[in-house]
Amino acid sequence: MRHSFPLITPVLALILILPTARSLFIRPFDQRPYEQQHWFETRQDTLPDPDPSKSATSLIIDTFQNPLHNDLGFWHGTGENLTLHHEPGFMRLFPNDPDQNFHTQFNTHECFSLIPWEDQYLHVVFEGNEEFTVSLNEHNAECNPARSPFPGVPDSVQASRYIMRTRSGSLDNGDDDWDDSSKLGRPKMPVKDGFKNDTRDGGHQHPAWATRTELFIPLSHFRINKNRVVSVSFTGFYTDEPITLYRVEFVPHVPHPSASNNYFTIPEKLPTGKLILRCSRPNSFAFGIDDGQPQYAQQVMRILDEENVRVTFFAVATGLRDRSTNFTNFYREMMRKGHQVALHSNTHPKMESLPTLHEIDDEIVQSIRTLRDQLNIGCTFNPPITAWALTLTVSSTARYFRPPFGTVGVRLRQRLAQYIDDPYIVNWSVDVEDWLWENTTTPERQLGAFYRDVARGGNLAVMHYLNPITAGYLRHFIRHVKGLGLNVMRVDQCLEDPNSPAL
Ligand SMILES: *[C@@H]1O[C@H](CO)[C@@H](O)[C@H](O)[C@H]1NC(C)=O
Ligand SMILES: *[C@@H]1O[C@H](CO)[C@@H](O)[C@H](O)[C@H]1NC(C)=O
Ligand SMILES: *[C@@H]1O[C@H](CO)[C@@H](O)[C@H](O)[C@H]1NC(C)=O
Ligand SMILES: *[C@@H]1O[C@H](CO)[C@@H](O)[C@H](O)[C@H]1NC(C)=O
Ligand SMILES: *[C@@H]1O[C@H](CO)[C@@H](O)[C@H](O)[C@H]1NC(C)=O
Ligand SMILES: [Zn+2]
Repeated sequence: MRHSFPLITPVLALILILPTARSLFIRPFDQRPYEQQHWFETRQDTLPDPDPSKSATSLIIDTFQNPLHNDLGFWHGTGENLTLHHEPGFMRLFPNDPDQNFHTQFNTHECFSLIPWEDQYLHVVFEGNEEFTVSLNEHNAECNPARSPFPGVPDSVQASRYIMRTRSGSLDNGDDDWDDSSKLGRPKMPVKDGFKNDTRDGGHQHPAWATRTELFIPLSHFRINKNRVVSVSFTGFYTDEPITLYRVEFVPHVPHPSASNNYFTIPEKLPTGKLILRCSRPNSFAFGIDDGQPQYAQQVMRILDEENVRVTFFAVATGLRDRSTNFTNFYREMMRKGHQVALHSNTHPKMESLPTLHEIDDEIVQSIRTLRDQLNIGCTFNPPITAWALTLTVSSTARYFRPPFGTVGVRLRQRLAQYIDDPYIVNWSVDVEDWLWENTTTPERQLGAFYRDVARGGNLAVMHYLNPITAGYLRHFIRHVKGLGLNVMRVDQCLEDPNSPAL
């Protein structure tokens, strides 16, 4: 066993066996490779002709011929400060932060529907580091890039899990410290016996492809609204090695099994915690207040009392355990007053940048434990039946998690879903930009940032109380949204969580 988890009494263990049974089942693979119907022109496989009765059309999204737009005529590029190098035929990314991203877009001003391709696969040809997140991004409800949030919610997969490995490739993907398949009680992805002696293509790769890597991801693995999709993106980088993208497209089929792809099996979809950017309840508005300085806590409490509103605090566990901060007493009092207190990691790292899953898990487990121990926020640790079946189920009150720095990659989403039953990962659509302005000569720009995002339709805010001016602005923020006729409430209430307290 790689972690130490708290021991629980045998009686409790028995009671808790049932919820874990789910994780004991070895689920079948979603898909197995089948007949190839489509391939791209540069590949020189000698394979049977496609079956004409199954000729769905592929969609070439990007072959990187142009530095500014993709093959569909829409923008591709980075919204963050990611260094890029373009030459006709490829785009090289030099990431050094998991927040950086590269998007290749469908129409941004209209709702682009992927329904005609929804049974297909996202096929990506690239070279280099394979430790990143691939996302399909939903557009916002208005299909308007001027509204907040933009883009909307993504769903994501881990590139390294979908790679078509070649005979000469390594069996071990060198990913984190264990591999999903062994955790599910299944051997590591084997050379499939039936394919072992398949020499249809002579066992050789085309020389030009020797260092290129291909991904095939079923579009069904991206659980978003396929009626309004805005882009495919690459993000969540946690190593500094460059990545060169050659091709992004939808194809109707994965390649026919052959000696050059004999390790390839589509993995199962791993659950990804639900990402939240907006409140769903009509006319609601929520403040998610993150870490703060203890000396401004009472000021925040006074404002909330006087304005008579309830909010959600996302508390960093190390701060709660440090008695000198008085945070445990403060948050206990806030909970008595009807506020929600939720998870915000143990030590506040950019979690997706952590090199191993153990470190991500440790942040999650320590924060759950601390909220349980210090604030009695309900959660139950499941019994360690076997190391790989070990999960922790957390009651609904402890399933709200705010990612430090708003950094969300697929590993964080998958690990949270592993430990917390149906986690809500709470990002935001209103950013007061206290991190940008509060210690400058123009702190009032936080008011402008808040009014701007609210005017764009944002209704879930992020702020901290690290500075007395920012803490004081809380009153202005609340009065502004009240003036618009919105009802201020906790995040769980604004998401219409049936387990949240009545309004
Ligand atoms: C962007 O990154 C480059 C290279 O890392 C750096 O020199 C530059 O200052 C950054 N710009 C911003 C706005 O962060
Ligand atoms: C593959 O070929 C080897 C040697 O020719 C043979 O011993 C083995 O049984 C074959 N395996 C399969 C799965 O056909
Ligand atoms: C600690 O927090 C409690 C609850 O808010 C408060 O009553 C108390 O005055 C605080 N103590 C200090 C030393 O700030
Ligand atoms: C979460 O919020 C941060 C900060 O605004 C942003 O950089 C990030 O892209 C958001 N993540 C998602 C998945 O929307
Ligand atoms: C602003 O300054 C205060 C006091 O030095 C500090 O605690 C806080 O972290 C700073 N805020 C930001 C966003 O850097
Ligand atoms: Zn924070």
